Amino acid sequence: MNIETDQIQTRKLGGKPEQQLLNSFFVAYKTARIIDENNKTYIRQCKQFYEHLRQIGSESGAVSIKTVAGRYFVNEQMVRFGDTGLSGAMSVVREWKAVGLGGVVLIDGIEEKDIARLFKFLSSVKPGTDNVERLSARLKSADLTNVRLLSAREVDAEHAGTAEEARREFRMAARSNFFRAINVMQENVKGLSDSQEINVSKTKRVVHTLIDHVIRDESSLIELTAIRDYDDYTYAHSVNVCVYALTVGVRLGLDRPRLAQLGFAAIFHDAGKVKLPTDLIRKPDKFDEEDWIQMQRHPLLGAKTILRGLKHDAHSARAARGAFEHHIGPDKSGYPHLPDRTREINLFSRIISIVDSFDALTSGRVYIKKAIPPDEVLRKMHFQMHAKFDAFLLKIFTDIVGIYPAGSLVLLSTDEVALVLTSGETDHTRPYVKIIGNQQGPLPEPQWVDLSLPEEYERKVVRLIDPERYGLNLSQLILRD
Ligand SMILES: [Fe+2]
Ligand SMILES: [Fe+2]
Repeated sequence: MNIETDQIQTRKLGGKPEQQLLNSFFVAYKTARIIDENNKTYIRQCKQFYEHLRQIGSESGAVSIKTVAGRYFVNEQMVRFGDTGLSGAMSVVREWKAVGLGGVVLIDGIEEKDIARLFKFLSSVKPGTDNVERLSARLKSADLTNVRLLSAREVDAEHAGTAEEARREFRMAARSNFFRAINVMQENVKGLSDSQEINVSKTKRVVHTLIDHVIRDESSLIELTAIRDYDDYTYAHSVNVCVYALTVGVRLGLDRPRLAQLGFAAIFHDAGKVKLPTDLIRKPDKFDEEDWIQMQRHPLLGAKTILRGLKHDAHSARAARGAFEHHIGPDKSGYPHLPDRTREINLFSRIISIVDSFDALTSGRVYIKKAIPPDEVLRKMHFQMHAKFDAFLLKIFTDIVGIYPAGSLVLLSTDEVALVLTSGETDHTRPYVKIIGNQQGPLPEPQWVDLSLPEEYERKVVRLIDPERYGLNLSQLILRD
């Protein structure tokens, strides 16, 4: 326990008092979850937070800490967060989102003795059962009268402009990193098929940038996974699988080094395909029996290719195992066939297996030659194919892509057509969308609408629609702004 708390404690952010306050806020918050109120480390962290608070509060009275669209504000001032602290903060923010909490205000007059109780109180928030009203009532009865909770709705309304701008910025940055990942993968594939030893430092870097995006705003990357019209889908498939795997990893609470290994393993999961004939990989027709026999060699070839072509370290070991195991399945009915049916399939391989199948089936560009809509794919995976996947992980993934994943096209009850930007945080049936057309035809300016807002209750998603049937080019729609 001490190791953990010490690790949290040594994380420092220099610079402005706001930054220090924010950092010490999340440090104490996280510690409060795991140790009791009398623990020395915890007391020290609370004291540190109180000192930072006084530094800021003495000038401005009340101090507010808010989160809006993945950005953090202390007293209306945006504070940049160091990446080391960010993943910790995000787990807190995810909880806040689930209960509709947008921030806290610490009113001048709050005393040092209140701080430890405050963090204990905050860390007892229960997503699923709590909401802001209930929490505020509990806060009152806990006699924490100098603290006020802000609902996400009021914070978002106050910062509407910022939220919008932040979303746009994230989407742009996500795009350039996503396409960079595709380029890096293209270089890797070339190196591996020429049997060169490849330098993976670029891949490791690009996986880290993808982790940053997934942590801050997973939808910005998930919408890009819906783009299918590449000449060669292989590279995009690897990156899509990496993005999806990371979203699952983040939900599981994996730490950064593990996320990096998971992303790395995911991006290389089909490395073995570089050793198969290109005609087979790109074959436009349905696979025949002979094709399948060939194709089923790729897991073993993958493990070998990775171990021969990549420097041996934890990343390449994870990747080799992922490549070898990602088609086996918990019931061991997949391939390669294992004589030992009791063998445990690694967690990363189980994650990759689910997200790989989802991308293959929804894209219609990997094994099967016809794309299946995401909702249908998830249904198939839950029912017909359930023995092939880890049920718990599949549930997590289903929760991420929701019923209307980012990047899908939907018909609204108002006869409007919209692109899903963010699958709804609390209600998957009410995503954040970009309306692109109505009965009269395409809108000259797309309209960004949050369907979870009460004023938008008239607009409901009726169903997913197939862009091709409407003569719409999905990638153009996604990349338009
Ligand atoms: Fe595969
Ligand atoms: Fe794959």
